[in-house]
Amino acid sequence: MITPFQMIRNKQNRLSHSEEEILYMVDGFTDGSIPDYQMSAWLMAVYFNDMSDIETRYYTKAMVNSGKRLDLSYLPGFVVDKHSTGGVGDKVSLILGPLLAACGLYVPMLSGRGLGHTGGTLDKLEAIPGYRTQLSLEEFQRIVEKTGISIMGQTKDICPADKKIYALRDVTSTVASLSLICGSIMSKKIAEGIQGLVLDVKCGNGAFMTTPEDARKLANLLTEVGIEYGLKMASVITDMNQPLGNNVGVWSEVRESVDLLQGNGPADIREVTLVLAQQALKMAQIPGDHHSLLETALSDGTAYAKFEEMVIEHGGSPEALNDPGVNSPKFTHEIMAQKDGWIGHMDTYKIGMSIVEMGGGRIIQTDKLDNSAGITFYNKFGHSVKTGDVICTAYCSTESKLDRAVKMLSDAISVTDESVEELELIIDIR
Ligand code: URA
Repeated sequence: MITPFQMIRNKQNRLSHSEEEILYMVDGFTDGSIPDYQMSAWLMAVYFNDMSDIETRYYTKAMVNSGKRLDLSYLPGFVVDKHSTGGVGDKVSLILGPLLAACGLYVPMLSGRGLGHTGGTLDKLEAIPGYRTQLSLEEFQRIVEKTGISIMGQTKDICPADKKIYALRDVTSTVASLSLICGSIMSKKIAEGIQGLVLDVKCGNGAFMTTPEDARKLANLLTEVGIEYGLKMASVITDMNQPLGNNVGVWSEVRESVDLLQGNGPADIREVTLVLAQQALKMAQIPGDHHSLLETALSDGTAYAKFEEMVIEHGGSPEALNDPGVNSPKFTHEIMAQKDGWIGHMDTYKIGMSIVEMGGGRIIQTDKLDNSAGITFYNKFGHSVKTGDVICTAYCSTESKLDRAVKMLSDAISVTDESVEELELIIDIR
């Protein structure tokens, strides 16, 4: 007989699980018969001892089958999604989804909340007053059909197992496991009923995969599983050794996304978005020059119009997007260079954790977020600075939290005497 105790013990001893055993664990936790503490222990054993490729496939299958699978084959266009493995300042989904919808693709996007030090698309959307992230599958499908894009969270119908396990991994430090990430990401994507998936596999000191080798390994695993489920797959490995864009934090990332969708915004986030979007247009076999198609949709307002349409369909207030009074922080603090030199190192994990410290991420599952918490960077990796130059401003709505975060942030950024080589933003396209 299988018991949670035996499952934990087997994984501690590096033994393989059968398909039936993995299904038992996933279903048992989802229906509440296996408690948090035993699931946490099993996740930790998997984190340390990993699952084989075949166990990962059983795990992914169990997650997919924990809920329904959408059928969107009736839509008159290519149905695609993008997924990022998670980073700091990564707001690409908010820009890319509407951008692809503006180019005639259909994007049914199920997203997650912030995980560990990384921000979550769902938390960002929920910061828009009125935006509903929990819709019925019928409503989700209706919005995708009408506007070309809908972004919401997993429901009790779609991957309920991932919804529960994801939340538990977030607070038990069991995120950075290849097989758990694979099951989590691919189950949601397979259940969405998409035809193609573009992956943004982050790599660096602010990513769950810190080395290009691990990032490639994860990209390969996700790609293989996607192909087995009949999806067209593309993956891009991108740098996460500094925050993406100039703004980090729930609301400040929504604001920066709006900026991008209105044709402005920082070059790095624009580049990552365009590279991923081109992969999607390519797999959809859209004719024409993809780069100029995408540039036009950003500059002529059609991508932003799609974003506004989606916000309205989800009950959100489009006026709030440009209202400086919404989610404004009560306290701010400037972090200045203490000497002349170059910004030679950014500990992106610590930067993400300073957002958590300010209330912009969760320490326990029930934490309510401070949407105003964030950081705006004026100088990033490789920039030369003089003593007293402002590197970044941190802000939130609780003074004591800001004080602690400022200390972390100051430790996370180093000014060096020597100039440093630029980081390569797009590491690999496959
Ligand atoms: N994103 C997900 O959806 N799941 C993970 O496990 C990590 C990133």
